[in-house]
Amino acid sequence: MGIRNASAGAQPTLHSAAMNVIQLTDRVYGVVRGMTSRLRPVALDELGLVGALEHDLMGWRQRLPATRFTLAIGELPPDIGESVAIAMYRVAQEGLTNIVRHAEARHVKVELDFAPASAVLHLSLQDDGRGVELKAIQHGLGLLGMRERIEALGGMFCIETQPAQGFRLDASVPLDRPERCGERV
Ligand SMILES: Nc1ncnc2c1ncn2[C@@H]1O[C@H](COP(=O)(O)OP(=O)(O)OP(=O)(O)O)[C@@H](O)[C@H]1O
Ligand SMILES: [Mg+2]
Repeated sequence: MGIRNASAGAQPTLHSAAMNVIQLTDRVYGVVRGMTSRLRPVALDELGLVGALEHDLMGWRQRLPATRFTLAIGELPPDIGESVAIAMYRVAQEGLTNIVRHAEARHVKVELDFAPASAVLHLSLQDDGRGVELKAIQHGLGLLGMRERIEALGGMFCIETQPAQGFRLDASVPLDRPERCGERV
């Protein structure tokens, strides 16, 4: 900043070099910020899984007032564990983004519940939008990334959809597994 101000007017070459450095650092800062917030979602840290989902849905309701978003939360265990919470939250975010981008839905249902007998946490996202032929899906990174996250935790990821029949995705993760090495830092 000092170089930029001192060189303004008097030394155009130095000034433009200083401007380039500033722009580059701003860009790098933006990229790093984006990466960290993707790895560790801030809302999740601050609000927990349920609070973060409520927060996201509130945002979508404001942006799309014509779409009804409902959230149903069952009885959950007190400690879901960080990697499971991050994975479930990312699946919900990515799934909601897909709904908004591709579904043209009127009603979107998000459900999170826990089955104590099997110790499985289950998230589902359902919309009544235009659906898609399963075989015709051009895999982007979204569905692939969701599946990878859930399967890496020993869970199951399924989608069900047909043209004009909406889209449903289910992610189930067992909670009785110890956190693996490297997942906690
Ligand atoms: N809720 C939905 N309703 C209808 N079609 C959907 C829905 N979710 C996904 N799809 C279809 O599945 C395809 C793959 O989704 P995916 O998230 O993998 O990729 P994408 O959204 O196209 O791109 P990106 O890599 O940016 O996520 C989409 O292009 C879309 O055709
Ligand atoms: Mg997507």
